[in-house]
Amino acid sequence: MWGSIFSCAACCLAFLPKIHKLSEEEKEEENDTQIKMADSIPLLTPYKLGNFNLSHRIILAPLTRQRSYGNVPQPHAILYYSQRTSKGGLLISEATGVSNTAQGYPETPGIWTKEQVEAWKPIVDAVHAKGGIFFCQIWHVGRVSNSDFQPNGQAPISSTDKPLKPQIRANGIDEAEFTPPRRLRTDEIPGIINDFRLAARNAMEAGFDGVEIHGANGYIIDQFLKDTVNDRTDEYGGSLENRCRFALELVEAVVDEIGADKVGIRLSPFADFMESGDSNPKALGLHMAQALNKYGILYLHVIEPRMKTPGEICECYDTLVPMRKAFNGSFISAGGFNRDLGNKAVAENDTDLVAYGRLFLANPDLPKRFELNAPLNKYNRATFYIPDPVLGYTDYPFLESA
Ligand SMILES: Cc1cc2nc3c(=O)[nH]c(=O)nc-3n(C[C@H](O)[C@H](O)[C@H](O)COP(=O)(O)O)c2cc1C
Ligand SMILES: *[C@@H]1O[C@H](CO)[C@@H](O)[C@H](O)[C@H]1NC(C)=O
Ligand SMILES: *[C@@H]1O[C@H](CO)[C@@H](O)[C@H](O)[C@H]1NC(C)=O
Ligand SMILES: *[C@@H]1O[C@H](CO)[C@@H](O)[C@H](O)[C@H]1NC(C)=O
Ligand SMILES: *[C@@H]1O[C@H](CO)[C@@H](O)[C@H](O)[C@H]1NC(C)=O
Repeated sequence: MWGSIFSCAACCLAFLPKIHKLSEEEKEEENDTQIKMADSIPLLTPYKLGNFNLSHRIILAPLTRQRSYGNVPQPHAILYYSQRTSKGGLLISEATGVSNTAQGYPETPGIWTKEQVEAWKPIVDAVHAKGGIFFCQIWHVGRVSNSDFQPNGQAPISSTDKPLKPQIRANGIDEAEFTPPRRLRTDEIPGIINDFRLAARNAMEAGFDGVEIHGANGYIIDQFLKDTVNDRTDEYGGSLENRCRFALELVEAVVDEIGADKVGIRLSPFADFMESGDSNPKALGLHMAQALNKYGILYLHVIEPRMKTPGEICECYDTLVPMRKAFNGSFISAGGFNRDLGNKAVAENDTDLVAYGRLFLANPDLPKRFELNAPLNKYNRATFYIPDPVLGYTDYPFLESA
């Protein structure tokens, strides 16, 4: 499922990254010290993200690793996250469930119980000890689940009662079966929003610096946003404004709880992961970017149109620039970036920050490697989601030992 290159009929050309050209100023600096050299690399320039002073713009993207047994973060995550921490670097945690109905994959962490909050604390402390800034991605899968993951074997909940088709799991062998979801009643929606609010409070209790609301990749928020999924007839469905209502009420609740300066949101208007496409992604993305301004949140994190699914790259004519221009907070782009594309995006002011998923998964010292333009470890898709506490998790070599 991840990483296969395909051509989407409507929008794809060959994927040809342009090389970032050194300016005259940058050329002069080539002979300078390493620190000065870093200044000339757009990704390695500092950035003020609200109250946080980032020393560079290379962000750890949220990455589900399925090693949190029984939904409880484990001690091996201390080493994993601290390996990926640099002084003044921003990390976004793997998607973390907000309630006992939020899960759809084995061994993913939660943040709704006292035990889970306590288990996150040493992981957050380790990131802080190395000078990192750590946001918790809070998540509810909605219909991307089945009754085995649900309390009392009940049906998963969603904006809709339309089921997902079975899918081949990431290991390429097993088939994921989804139980047809139960459409939430209008009067149940405030309760789900409240679960996100409480999860945000718990994240702060665990020591995180803020939260990222997971509004991307076909999960519950996206199930409300996208018109191919949302078939509601109440005030949470129908018009664009109505489909965005759930997301915006949720943002407002989380902002009220922990403060706008600690809140980001991730969106993927152009993606159709988990059968969650929209007939007019440009309008959806732009509307959300504009509507979010009202809440003054810290950042908007958006997945590039070239990522139709989280692992498949295609070149598209669509860009995130209209959303970037419409949003008045900080902007993070993600999806299919390498060193050159990231430098180019920052240099051309298409984004403030760039999140790296698979490259950071496989290169714990990615900022250092980008600084030195060093070779990268290859990621191994086969070990993305295995429960092993070391293999494919904390055993990717650092530059010094490679
Ligand atoms: C192993 C793996 C786990 C992922 N888990 C999450 C997740 O928990 N939350 C999320 O928003 N995106 C998740 N994604 C998507 C990534 O954050 C990112 O958007 C995607 O990998 C594309 O970026 P890349 O080309 O830099 O890898 C995951 C991707 C991978 C490969
Ligand atoms: C390049 O660096 C060296 C060593 O620091 C220095 O001696 C030299 O003058 C520099 N050259 C230029 C053109 O700046
Ligand atoms: C960030 O830098 C500013 C000065 O530019 C400083 O006033 C502020 O205290 C710094 N914040 C943190 C959290 O270090
Ligand atoms: C963003 O816009 C909103 C209203 O549109 C405003 O309240 C807020 O102060 C703005 N934030 C910044 C940082 O300019
Ligand atoms: C970069 O883009 C943002 C958003 O469009 C804009 O506010 C800012 O002024 C731009 N910065 C520069 C240096 O052009």
